Amino acid sequence: MEKLQTWFIVTLFIVTKYLQARTQNLNEQNSQLDPDPEFLGTISNVTFPAGREAILTCSVRNLGKNKVGWLRASDQTVLALQGRVVTHNARISVMHDDMHTWKLKISKLRESDRGCYMCQINTSPMKKQIGCIDVQVPPDIINEESSADMAVQEGEDATLTCKATGNPQPRVTWRREDGEMILLRKSGSRELMRVESFLGSSLKLMRLERRQMGAYLCIASNDVPPAVSKRVSLSVQFAPMVRAPSQLLGTPLGSDVQLECHVEASPSPVSYWLKGARAPSGFASVSNNNLEGGQPGPEMLLDGPKYAITEKRDGYRGVMLLTVRSFSPSDVGTYHCVSTNSLGRAEGTLRLYEIKLHPGISTINDDHLNFIGGLEDSNRNSASKTQRISYLVCLSTYFCLTTIVYYNYILFMSSKQLQQR
Ligand SMILES: *[C@@H]1O[C@H](CO)[C@@H](O)[C@H](O)[C@H]1NC(C)=O
Repeated sequence: MEKLQTWFIVTLFIVTKYLQARTQNLNEQNSQLDPDPEFLGTISNVTFPAGREAILTCSVRNLGKNKVGWLRASDQTVLALQGRVVTHNARISVMHDDMHTWKLKISKLRESDRGCYMCQINTSPMKKQIGCIDVQVPPDIINEESSADMAVQEGEDATLTCKATGNPQPRVTWRREDGEMILLRKSGSRELMRVESFLGSSLKLMRLERRQMGAYLCIASNDVPPAVSKRVSLSVQFAPMVRAPSQLLGTPLGSDVQLECHVEASPSPVSYWLKGARAPSGFASVSNNNLEGGQPGPEMLLDGPKYAITEKRDGYRGVMLLTVRSFSPSDVGTYHCVSTNSLGRAEGTLRLYEIKLHPGISTINDDHLNFIGGLEDSNRNSASKTQRISYLVCLSTYFCLTTIVYYNYILFMSSKQLQQR
């Protein structure tokens, strides 16, 4: 009995020892087979517009007891460790979706988030991978560094600039607000080139002409909407120029007659009408003397029952209209349309005549009077033209006939000569 007991104990001991040894062995084997953690693929770089969210994905195999962390590459700030965010930034979160992927998510992207991020495994030596985020920013125009509305004298140069920021760097295009072509002077050239738009942040306009006046738009755009624009108004300044299309006007008594002057001026001029002798320069010396008062001083005309004064303006161009109502002999005389601005003064002179209507004849029949547009010579011109043409036809006919006669004569003579031989 004792023998059996001893045998049992020994056997148990051996079995226990064996099992112990076997377990130990297995453990050792296991730790030898445990492979190092490694990355699966690389982190893709991403590009997103500001305000959206960006996700960087880091895939790791065989992490084992190791840990995965996310760091900002520029300053090595630790942002997250395993599934936990360790930085005080509410816009940053981490997601551990399955066994292998560790995602860093930055929401409401800002420009300051642009940069590279590091996915790190705390092995020794440590393993890392880098992924970068580019943040797109829609264009913006920096007002302080861009042109404001400007006024330049005709003949001088102007440069319109527009400074734009954004990522990618925006393109700046210039157009005219009214849709007209931009007129560009090539350096050293007299002519102006017509272009629909101009690409570049500085629009140089050399030796300005008045037709270059207007509102210009600079439009900044990149791949990120919306594009932005700024309006720069360019005023080209010059002294007034006045032209009266018809300087002599005849009108019958009792009718209304309209006097017209075309004005170009910038800045906008002050315009008025004078009647009487040549207007002296300067507004102050205008007297209120009437022509009938004997003194032929200029009289400033005012809108009222006798005169209707209007002025239409379109840009730097304008039309001054003076209607003299119920034309009477005292209205015969010289009229001046005067236009002044800060750069100068100009005037146009017109003369009003009376056209005498013969009783019983309703048409105007006055041969010593030059009527407005000058129909006068056109009839005579066309008459003499017809004459000249018929004369030419006659001359060429005569020449032709002579040639034919002469040619026939020569033929006749030569045939005669042949016969004689
Ligand atoms: C991501 O961008 C960085 C820096 O621009 C670059 O070094 C890296 O090769 C890029 N990675 C990939 C996967 O394209």
